[in-house]
Amino acid sequence: MPKDRTKIAKCLFPAAGYGTRFLPATKAIPKEMLPVLTKPLLQYGVEEALSAGIQTMAIVTGRGKRAIEDHFDISYELEHQIKGTSKEHYLTEIRDVITKCTFSYTRQVEMKGLGHAILSGETLIGDEPFAVVLADDLCHNGGDSVLTQMVKLYDRYKCSIVAVEEIPIEDSNKYGVIAGNAEEDGVIRVTDMVEKPDPKDAPSNLAIIGRYILTPDIFDIIRETKPGKGGEIQITDALLAQAKEGKVVAYKFKGKRFDCGSVDGFVEATNYFYNKSGV
Ligand code: UTP
Repeated sequence: MPKDRTKIAKCLFPAAGYGTRFLPATKAIPKEMLPVLTKPLLQYGVEEALSAGIQTMAIVTGRGKRAIEDHFDISYELEHQIKGTSKEHYLTEIRDVITKCTFSYTRQVEMKGLGHAILSGETLIGDEPFAVVLADDLCHNGGDSVLTQMVKLYDRYKCSIVAVEEIPIEDSNKYGVIAGNAEEDGVIRVTDMVEKPDPKDAPSNLAIIGRYILTPDIFDIIRETKPGKGGEIQITDALLAQAKEGKVVAYKFKGKRFDCGSVDGFVEATNYFYNKSGV
């Protein structure tokens, strides 16, 4: 059967950043492998993608990130040691992920920003729409996962989608911020987006968080995008070109989001998942 190129079948995980806010922990351990309780951030992201019907995981790594590949692979020694013991259940979730998904990797050789990391993933994605998960934004929802909600929305809008959240305006300089017109409840057609604006210049209090669905024309646009804020190639700048043609919607997702790229957000997520686990 020919492949349906309008469905979201692949998820890209840019995971090449240095994670400087978590030094020294991230000196030899990728930020995406830091655990909330016992599970690495990246595994939460992969499970979210799987819950949205996506089985092909494309991970953009960098130097010092080998632990990621080892995590999503069988450890025969460990399997041998643990098989048939009372501890075997600890491996249930990761075994399930490894069985159901395929993983492919590419390296971002120079860390030139999120837009550049996404472009590095082109070779793994090809010419089809795809999801992007920034694993340091940990999302949780008792019902449909955030990515599931977005994949459903994509079926109706067939254009790029950014997940947005209302933020205190004084935090606008940490996010890409959008402006636009309401399409329906929780969906906004984006007309403008600015990377990390000063609060006085922010076009709204709606900030982009680490969940995207992108159409593949974004790769050509990123190639043309000049370095922006911080000298990095920003995905926000590339998305603005699509937005100017009316081809981006913002979605106010249902659920909670923790900024696990910051120490405060990481602690908040840990407390939340600990309380929920009933340990
Ligand atoms: P961040 O800016 O939050 O990650 O990028 P960082 O640079 O690793 O963190 P700090 O600020 O130094 O503490 C958001 C996401 O984009 C990826 C990161 O790995 C993270 O998942 N990223 C960022 C890349 O893959 N490549 C880049 O060049 C930049």
